[in-house]
Amino acid sequence: MVKSSNTVWHHATVTRARRAQMNGHRSAVLWFTGLSGAGKSTLAHAVEESLHQQRCHTFVLDGDNVRHGLCSDLGFSAEDRGENIRRVGEAAKLLVESGAVVMTAFISPFRLDRDRARGLFPHGDFIEIWCNAPMEVCEKRDVKGLYRRARTGEVKEFTRISSPYESPLSPELEVDTGSLPLEVCVGQVLDMLRLRGVITEMANE
Ligand code: ADX
Repeated sequence: MVKSSNTVWHHATVTRARRAQMNGHRSAVLWFTGLSGAGKSTLAHAVEESLHQQRCHTFVLDGDNVRHGLCSDLGFSAEDRGENIRRVGEAAKLLVESGAVVMTAFISPFRLDRDRARGLFPHGDFIEIWCNAPMEVCEKRDVKGLYRRARTGEVKEFTRISSPYESPLSPELEVDTGSLPLEVCVGQVLDMLRLRGVITEMANE
């Protein structure tokens, strides 16, 4: 609900298009989705590292970090996750406007929430990347010990144990982060970005 109705939109003269021209690349959001432990943050940061080395302007919004600040008031009910993803979508929109290639790494388990975030962007600027690692692999990794604590019931509403994950139906890219080496996954994301014209071969010259 919009409560601030008595405001007017101020139009900047420095536009997204002018920023893209100066940067030498388009901006877009790469929306990484997948289970806890699927490798979303790892992949997003590795892609960012590579893009940064190619002189691209980048930014990563990461679930665990954002939940310490912007979304520290939210838990893991379906409603709170919805609000989490709404805020992240809006934050990503601002960053895309600023000219960055933005990577978001959130479980974002609900299709409706992901589709709402997609709806904030012009067609083609929202690139959904499904980090598709099987739950058995994520649970075996259990980097944060959360699967174990979810199994005992100590951690409630845990994705794929006591809360659903709705797999993407037509993501722009699906990456097998359960078995492929990180470099291969990074390569697949970068190839897709070139294919979609977000970055060009020129970006690192
Ligand atoms: S989302 O569902 O709202 O998109 P988000 O990506 O921000 O979730 O946060 C997920 C991270 O919070 C997990 O990687 C994990 O470290 C931690 N976490 C703590 N409790 C839960 C829970 N009940 N379900 C999922 N993740 C949890």
